[in-house]
Amino acid sequence: MRSDIGSAKTELPEIAFAGRSNVGKSSMINVLINRKSLARTSSQPGKTQTINFYNVNKEMYFVDLPGYGYAKTSKDNQEKWAVMIEKYLRRSKSLRAVFVLVDIRHEAKASDKMMYDWVVQSGYRPVIIATKADKISKGAVPKQLKILREGLGLEKGTVIIPFSAETKNGRSEIWNEIEKCLSGQADITEEETSL
Ligand code: GTP
Ligand code: MG
Repeated sequence: MRSDIGSAKTELPEIAFAGRSNVGKSSMINVLINRKSLARTSSQPGKTQTINFYNVNKEMYFVDLPGYGYAKTSKDNQEKWAVMIEKYLRRSKSLRAVFVLVDIRHEAKASDKMMYDWVVQSGYRPVIIATKADKISKGAVPKQLKILREGLGLEKGTVIIPFSAETKNGRSEIWNEIEKCLSGQADITEEETSL
């Protein structure tokens, strides 16, 4: 569903958000765009089941991808999910970046690692968002980020940002990364560091 029926033909850049069910993708989108509930959220995993596009200031689309890793999902649904995401990653010409969200409290699950690898193999350099940072103490953040970095096997230089939809901590850092992706700076940095 596109939230701005009528201008779906425009080729605005797209920024997609991927992550396990219940990790906080829709909540983060609402915080980023300062809307209470444009993107539907729920304490029940599996809320977002289709790819949702949110037009942000007529400048870009935020793409809320359906969550993965929900244990109660049938094999059939998992397959549908994989086909839908793969088609999207392969076909979207306007997709500029994929952000992968993981829960800051836990180590990376196999499905997180698979998603990260999939995004990298699709040619993107994902930014990682460690969600629900309000649920751990400030002091525990660096250690959790290290655990996630190692568990995901992040490539050197990959940005990982702790974020909380409750306190909104991390919001401006995420926006910075989005701006970089849109201005193409991310590519320039990559070239510079590989010299
Ligand atoms: P699916 O659509 O099922 O893939 O889930 P989602 O990733 O979009 O998660 P959603 O934003 O719906 O959030 C799931 C639950 O986690 C909700 O109950 C949210 O209120 C809660 N939640 C999300 N972000 C945070 C956060 O930063 N801190 C806390 N404490 N709770 C959060
Ligand atoms: Mg959702």
